[in-house]
Amino acid sequence: MYGLVNKAVEELVIDKFGLEKWEAVKKRSGVDVEFFISSEPYDDEVTYALANAVGEEVDIPLSEVMHALGEWWVLKTAKEKYGSLLVAGGSNLKEFLLHLPVFHNRISLIYPRLTPPEFRVTHVVENGLRLHYYSKRQGLKEFVRGLLFGLSKLYETPITLTEPFDEATGDSQAVFGIAW
Ligand code: HEM
Repeated sequence: MYGLVNKAVEELVIDKFGLEKWEAVKKRSGVDVEFFISSEPYDDEVTYALANAVGEEVDIPLSEVMHALGEWWVLKTAKEKYGSLLVAGGSNLKEFLLHLPVFHNRISLIYPRLTPPEFRVTHVVENGLRLHYYSKRQGLKEFVRGLLFGLSKLYETPITLTEPFDEATGDSQAVFGIAW
């Protein structure tokens, strides 16, 4: 994944636990990178190793790390560094989610080696919809949940999240029922 994702892990850890903890996380992860370059692609294993090391270092489950990273990604990384892209995604939560299937197209223009997630939207009603998530990666469902709660906070629109077909879909895809 592009360096900006690893940088988000770094910023999250430093913000919540301080610089020393980040150094400990890096050491534990075995990732031997002095600093991450946002616009450079890194092996996915780097991101997974860092996330695992955060969980072990601060003694929380990996799912919580991924959830926190998702919220951080929306509320800090995206909002502060890519604000105009976010704004272009919609003026309220529903608009943003309806636009999500094409959202990363524009990001691919900036980061041409992006391997983006795929989203599909169905069952749209006034106060909810179903978001279908498909990935070429494993283990990012909790990250997506965090992203969705981050968007909920960004748009000040409380949501409830269900997974109507959890068992059928495996780990690289999911269906989220989102209601607000
Ligand atoms: C302006 C804001 C955003 C930027 C710049 C951005 C950029 C990226 C980048 C660089 C990656 C790593 C993929 C790679 O390097 O191959 C990624 C992954 C991902 N993004 Fe975004 N993104 C943004 C907002 C969002 C939002 C709002 C969502 C909401 C659901 C989202 C969902 C995801 C997911 C789920 C992944 C993991 C990839 C996978 O599942 O395989 N992103 N994004």
